[in-house]
Amino acid sequence: MIHLEPFVDSFDAAPGYLDWAAFGPLSPAVRAEMHADAELLGSGRRSGIDLVGERILEARERVARLLGAPIDDVVLQPSTTQGLTHAMFGLEGTVVVPSQDFPAIRVSAHRAAAARGRLTVREIDPPDGIVTIDSVVAALTDDVSAVAVSAVDFRTGALVDLAGLREAIGDRLLIVDAMQAFGVVDVEWNLADVVAGNGYKWLRAGRGTGFARFSARAQERIVPVLSGISGMVGDPSTLGIPATLPTAAAYSIAPADPLAASRLATSLRELEEVGVAAVAAELRARAQDVMNLADRYEVPVLTPRAAHAGIVTLVPVPQDAAALAAALANHGVTVTARGATIRVSPHVGTGVDTLTLLGDALADAAARRVSSVVDVDRDELSADLILPEIVLIEAPPEISGKFLLHDDEYIEDLDTEDGDATDEDIVIATVEDTHPPES
Ligand SMILES: Cc1ncc(COP(=O)(O)O)c(C=O)c1O
Repeated sequence: MIHLEPFVDSFDAAPGYLDWAAFGPLSPAVRAEMHADAELLGSGRRSGIDLVGERILEARERVARLLGAPIDDVVLQPSTTQGLTHAMFGLEGTVVVPSQDFPAIRVSAHRAAAARGRLTVREIDPPDGIVTIDSVVAALTDDVSAVAVSAVDFRTGALVDLAGLREAIGDRLLIVDAMQAFGVVDVEWNLADVVAGNGYKWLRAGRGTGFARFSARAQERIVPVLSGISGMVGDPSTLGIPATLPTAAAYSIAPADPLAASRLATSLRELEEVGVAAVAAELRARAQDVMNLADRYEVPVLTPRAAHAGIVTLVPVPQDAAALAAALANHGVTVTARGATIRVSPHVGTGVDTLTLLGDALADAAARRVSSVVDVDRDELSADLILPEIVLIEAPPEISGKFLLHDDEYIEDLDTEDGDATDEDIVIATVEDTHPPES
């Protein structure tokens, strides 16, 4: 039986933080060891500098262990995107990419296609942007050499079926953006040929802690066209154009940052102490807590209930979205609101205090919920009406009550005449919900 408590207790971010999919506040151990290593780098002693340099090997070893890969397949990277860019620039044939995925895959593929002229990019756009095996299979033709997907989609939170994909695409390369999944999803990463990730979200290691794995098959088929001084055979005194290294290090440009490696190694040590399986199960439970709250307050959830990690994406009906975003902000809840969606991402250390704040915000928004929106012709209203204003109007039979009238957006406080709506030809009447759910 693994005890997660010390790991869970090490989360010390302020209550209300539910944005781990955007940025993971650094763990106390990462902060402490980074300071200690920075002191060593300031010492001017060779032994101290070398000691910090050794963290690069330690970080690679830990990444390799978690990926189930040989250490020579793993190379540290400044970011996920740089790892993926090495893969895309060296590819030939056709790569299948989801069009609604985080742009790291799509953009690097298109840039590579334009720069080298040896790659064709085939975009797929499955319903809701959620990649299914069928949506990939439908795009497979003989010229497809690789399929590239996010293990967990940054927008919907959907967890892709890696094993199913591996089987469906046969001998083709499987390239995976692991940014929203590595360390918090218990999957067989070694099913993929290329895995790229970064530790600044779920690993709590800060930026610059990227890594990539290139399997033996990937190394055979992907030319390290962007290889630099850290990917070459020999040393700085080697003249001419040295060959690239026969390991994943070939997919690197310049030496790794030892302080970033120190942060990554520390965070992975913390993770290994409790194990990914325990963290993944606990994180699913926290995400489930968020879904339960969303269900209680009738906020639709986009994230697939049966296949997710830490991201829960809410899709409030359009007329409620602004009120919900405002309520979250008012209650000190940090999330990512993008377009019509609100992405809520807890971590295993998300406590009752934070979930209570989220519940309070959802209750608040539900109490202010707009139950209906009707368009009203200005002609139907008195001529001297100055918006916003609460009036009684002729409304469809299924709704009744007071209407706050305004010309563009939902105005937050229905009980007052606050707001900045102006006089227009068409006004929208928003109806106060007289039966808010219990909080
Ligand atoms: C799925 C996914 N991939 C890649 C990135 C960007 O990662 P990096 O900054 O390491 O390139 C993000 C950032 O949000 C992401 O969500």
